[in-house]
Amino acid sequence: MKILRQLLIVTSMATIFTAACNTAEEKTEPANAAPEAQMKQEKWGTVDGKDVYLYTLTNKSGATIKITNYGGIVTSWVTPDKNGKSTSIVLGFDSLSGYLAKPPYFGAIIGRYGNRIAKGSFKIDTTTYTLAKNNGVNHLHGGDKGFDKVVWHGLTKKSSPSSTSITLHYVSLDGEEGYPGNLKVDVTYTLTDENELSIEYSAETDKPTVVNLTNHSYFNLTGDPSKTILDHSLQVNADKYTPVDKGLIPTGELKEVKGTAFDFLQPHTIGERIASVEGGYDHNFVLTRKEKGLELVATLSDSISGRKLEVFTEEPGLQFYSGNFLDGTIKTSNGTAINKYAALCLETQHFPDAPNQPAFPSTLLKPGEKYHTITKYKVSVSK
Ligand code: BGC
Repeated sequence: MKILRQLLIVTSMATIFTAACNTAEEKTEPANAAPEAQMKQEKWGTVDGKDVYLYTLTNKSGATIKITNYGGIVTSWVTPDKNGKSTSIVLGFDSLSGYLAKPPYFGAIIGRYGNRIAKGSFKIDTTTYTLAKNNGVNHLHGGDKGFDKVVWHGLTKKSSPSSTSITLHYVSLDGEEGYPGNLKVDVTYTLTDENELSIEYSAETDKPTVVNLTNHSYFNLTGDPSKTILDHSLQVNADKYTPVDKGLIPTGELKEVKGTAFDFLQPHTIGERIASVEGGYDHNFVLTRKEKGLELVATLSDSISGRKLEVFTEEPGLQFYSGNFLDGTIKTSNGTAINKYAALCLETQHFPDAPNQPAFPSTLLKPGEKYHTITKYKVSVSK
């Protein structure tokens, strides 16, 4: 009897698990897919009555990236350091509860608009749209419930011999967080055997709207968030940046970095000049582009671990945020306090407040147009 009951429990658990896995709409994999490039899916919890999963992408060298369909969050990216020790180079939690406590956008997809829109208001033609003011008097990262706090769905999985991809879909309804138009969004993450994470964003709308999508991963290349990123070295291909007012809204000026603490044309450690930047780095760099497509725009490196992170993008801007508002109140899953400068973000984007700044590259998306942009992060290690 007892054995029968146990058998029943095991069978029903297997059925639940299979059902969970089957919610993923899987695309056919080529028959010759390399066994090394893999994706594993597990149930992680429930939010808003919707199933949340954790997907693990593994490549040939054994690096893994974990992504959840809650907020499209990259929860970990485990890669070896120069001594072969593998640790995660991004801040994240082992369980969904860490994210439900609303950490400041750890690893998430940011949308409909990355960074700030002044006074939570903008105009398209003659219509004024009013958004949530969730950052003082301004609107930040899509509002009270941006793309980082919703459950994405319709996952598809694609594998090639040298990469593994997943796509998350989200339909942001007309009026959501104050934005006009039903916006259909796809985000595809691909982990390659070259230790690259490529993030491909696409969107379409049925009314004119504004769109500026990015990823908010916080990097600490030492893999140890008890250490700061102040000794990391950064190089950014930007000869201008957008100065901001007290509310971190661009003044509209494109200022030369030459002779300032914002000059990262040659590599500098982050700590070297940070004391002279009020509040720390939290600025949009105007990328100096040589071509239109995907281009190397920034390189971050850490001599302790030997790790290097290269950022490639098609976007015109890069928000370099040095983790100034982290204050130790949030702890990692194993209890380490996440203090100021414990990690930094390199968010590829159009410029903050572009909907109110006609001189900035436009973020307007009209029906019939396709929003499409790719950013790639590549990790390598030198001894
Ligand atoms: C913004 C910061 C903000 C941080 C986390 C960054 O993208 O530029 O001002 O505090 O995100 O909330």
